[in-house]
Amino acid sequence: MSAAPDSPEAYPRSVDARILAALRKPGDAPISGIELAQRLGISRAAVWARIESLRQLGFGIIASPHAGYRLVQSPEALHPDDLQARLPECCLVGSNIHVLAETTSTNDILDRWARDGAAEGTVVFAESQTRGRGRLGRAWHSPAGRGLWFSLLLRPRIHPQAITRITIATAAAVARALAMESGLPIRIKWPNDLMLEGRKLGGILTELSAETDGVKHVIVGIGIDVNQVAADFPPDVRKVATSLCIAAGQPMDRARLAAALLCELDKDYRRLREGRFAEVAEDWEQLCSTLGKHVRIQTGGRRLFGVAETIDAEGALLVRSEHGHLERVIGGDVFMEK
Ligand code: BTN
Repeated sequence: MSAAPDSPEAYPRSVDARILAALRKPGDAPISGIELAQRLGISRAAVWARIESLRQLGFGIIASPHAGYRLVQSPEALHPDDLQARLPECCLVGSNIHVLAETTSTNDILDRWARDGAAEGTVVFAESQTRGRGRLGRAWHSPAGRGLWFSLLLRPRIHPQAITRITIATAAAVARALAMESGLPIRIKWPNDLMLEGRKLGGILTELSAETDGVKHVIVGIGIDVNQVAADFPPDVRKVATSLCIAAGQPMDRARLAAALLCELDKDYRRLREGRFAEVAEDWEQLCSTLGKHVRIQTGGRRLFGVAETIDAEGALLVRSEHGHLERVIGGDVFMEK
């Protein structure tokens, strides 16, 4: 992969994102209207108007005459400015964030925007999807406000064959963020399943738009089951799926989790662009529950039995077959045999 293009010091942000970022500074100490106005280069009246509009969106902002403004509560619904306010300003991933109340599939929407020239790093979340898709044409159940359903647009300078690297980097970043935020033992099942206590917690759908020798863009779709209770899952899914809320016994703050995910995705995409896939792969191996296991792999009409040994430089799984050959697998369903 080629070197990273020069990245700007900071990506531009809306006034609301900058106000929320200032209110979220460590310690959550109050900040005066004068200071906010100076920092943002706007009048105190304009600050007051923006604070009023943030309150209308559900942000609890207390104003005390001497100390200033303090953020005491955030809305349950995701909000683009709030998500951006929680990210470092140099994050390419999330440099442009959209939140839709409902859509068909965030992958489909972002693919359309990508073809119309949307910038790399654009992220679209949906509170619910009516036609959420998983791998191999499976449906992805995406109930309103319960999970994180989002897609990320990347324009990597890689050969289409190396696309599995993106999935590997995404899985490592997502598993790290989920483990950090929940304290739960999150594992990866090759190539793209996020697992918790043997059940599926989330998945990644990487879709490529390519020309003969290069990638035009990649849409990385990520679905994480966050606050579902068992009854929220369709009966056939209930047996094999879980959510962070079920495992932790309490709901989680989706906005905080979303920001942690974007931050970790940014770190690993940066590592890929700097040619440091080996480091990413090492992290991934630490988190992976597939390596060293006896597996059955279903790819198309073919079935392969063997031991999953490692991944190669392009992110393909290398499986020592029952006949002793090393087989290279780039897709399919993996089942643990013992
Ligand atoms: C899988 O495990 O099969 C992948 C699931 C990916 C689901 C996400 S939800 C956001 C994005 N939009 C979609 O339609 N699918 C992905």
